[in-house]
Amino acid sequence: MCGIIGYVGDTAAAPILLKALRNLEYRGYDSAGIATIHNGKVSAEKDVGKIDQVCGKHDLEKLPGNVGIGHVRWATHGDVTQVNAHPHFDCKGEIAVVHNGIVENYRELRTRLEPKHRFVSQTDTEVIPHLIEEYMDAGATLEQAVLQTSRQLKGCYAFAAVCVKEPDRVVATRRESPLVVGANSHRAFIASDALAFLQETNRVVFLEDGEFVILGKTVTFLDQDGKPIKKEFKEVDWKWDQATKQGYDYYMMKEILEEPQAIRQAMMQDRKLLLEMGIGILRSRQVVITACGTSRFAALIGRYLFSRLAGKFCDVIMGSEFQYFSDSIDRNTLVIAVSQSGETADVIQGVKRAKENGAQVYSIVNTVGSTLARMADRVLYLNCGPEIGVAATKTFVSQLTLFYLLAFTMENRLDDGIQQLLDICPLIEQNVKQNNKGLQVLAQKTRDRNDFYYIARGINFAIAAEGALKMKEISYIHAEGMPAGELKHGTLALVDHGTPIVVVAPDDYTYDETIANAHETKARGAFVIGLSEETNPIFDAWIPIPDVDEIFQPLVTVVPLQLLAYYSALARGRDPDKPRNLAKSVTVL
Ligand code: G6P
Repeated sequence: MCGIIGYVGDTAAAPILLKALRNLEYRGYDSAGIATIHNGKVSAEKDVGKIDQVCGKHDLEKLPGNVGIGHVRWATHGDVTQVNAHPHFDCKGEIAVVHNGIVENYRELRTRLEPKHRFVSQTDTEVIPHLIEEYMDAGATLEQAVLQTSRQLKGCYAFAAVCVKEPDRVVATRRESPLVVGANSHRAFIASDALAFLQETNRVVFLEDGEFVILGKTVTFLDQDGKPIKKEFKEVDWKWDQATKQGYDYYMMKEILEEPQAIRQAMMQDRKLLLEMGIGILRSRQVVITACGTSRFAALIGRYLFSRLAGKFCDVIMGSEFQYFSDSIDRNTLVIAVSQSGETADVIQGVKRAKENGAQVYSIVNTVGSTLARMADRVLYLNCGPEIGVAATKTFVSQLTLFYLLAFTMENRLDDGIQQLLDICPLIEQNVKQNNKGLQVLAQKTRDRNDFYYIARGINFAIAAEGALKMKEISYIHAEGMPAGELKHGTLALVDHGTPIVVVAPDDYTYDETIANAHETKARGAFVIGLSEETNPIFDAWIPIPDVDEIFQPLVTVVPLQLLAYYSALARGRDPDKPRNLAKSVTVL
């Protein structure tokens, strides 16, 4: 997803902006650029490709000046071209703007501006510098012009602007797209994500919708009417080294290996808060969990746990569809929003509607101070440190851990639950070692197959879906996960000689039926990959898993499937950390 950065400080801006953009790379992007201000001039370079490729073509690092803005673009409006890359400029090249989000009314604004302004790109963003230009030409300061411009924009945005007429500052604002301010005694930043500047400072302020910030010699905050407001800087406890590869080839591998530790860290919660939330869930007339992608699969397992351990039924609605159910959401509804980033626009939109209807909101997020955390009445944090790989791994098991804690709290068995979770951590560690080689071999063996199907029953159904999602995201092959019983209602028609079928079949009351479904595929020539405690003659390949109580199986079944996806991506020459077209934090609808 697009990432923005702005900097004012005591040293050259360009190297710092570049470093920050590299730190934002994980969000997913297709072009990059920066602009700096020096000697009454905007200097800028931008192009398509990864930051290293853009730096190979242009000397970004040498752009002069101590004030600047930068951007990594994830195309929404307009093709991936140099001209559509950010920054964008006004007619005179005196104003530069970087933007994250979507200006929904850009066509209307562009039509209005076009008679007097020269547009060069196909982006929605370009209306912003031209609007600022109009207001500044009419006598506004940069700060006033940004304020007036923001009033013209519909949609979600976070943008930052610099101008040669006020060369000592960066002015930025947001609505529904994240923007965080960081500062130490001699440098100030704005960025889409605190990770961008975490090496410089961990003192941050999260801007609220409609607020403005002016980075200059000091940092000034304004409310939506332009009146100065006081905001307190807080320390985020993420450490920069958590966001480095620490010797691993890819973040994804490092993050998979961190999973046992992530479970332990997720368990460090305030018991009183857990109890309040557990009681809140039990007492609510209806509970709806909303999430996207991997977080939704964690939610599906959470739903199962609430039902199994606490007898509480709830529904899971994917973020992008949730708003369409607003007719049946009211003040007796409790919404639980699950999101590692806390910034997924689809989830935010649904939660907003639910709040308007009077619903109470709990959030389960990783990013402290993120939008979903701020929108919630109560928040549980995953506490697992930054996750950089686009494909979620350690945040998934952390989300599961929080669902276990809530469900055990509701059942009044929290201590027992914690002990059982602790016992599982070393089993995951051993299992990774046990499977590591075999999964590499399996990934090589199946590297020419273009369709994978994953089946499971009960609590593991969502793991089949998550295993397939991982495979799809990073290997770029077609993969589907489904309840084993559903296979015969359509998908079986696609099973052919050699089709890999991943059968998640732990030894519980679902085992016989799941194996029976595997037989149906085997009869059509499938290559059956079985995950279970013991092997079975039907398996062409076996992935052993530790023997744990049924309710904890998702924690041990998901890890080998993450590894299988990881090695399959490598076997196909893909970069597992940066899958094409995907973004870590999807801040557009
Ligand atoms: C993107 C990511 C997925 C993630 C989903 C939801 O699609 O690529 O890995 O599961 O967003 O993200 P969230 O931050 O809300 O958990």
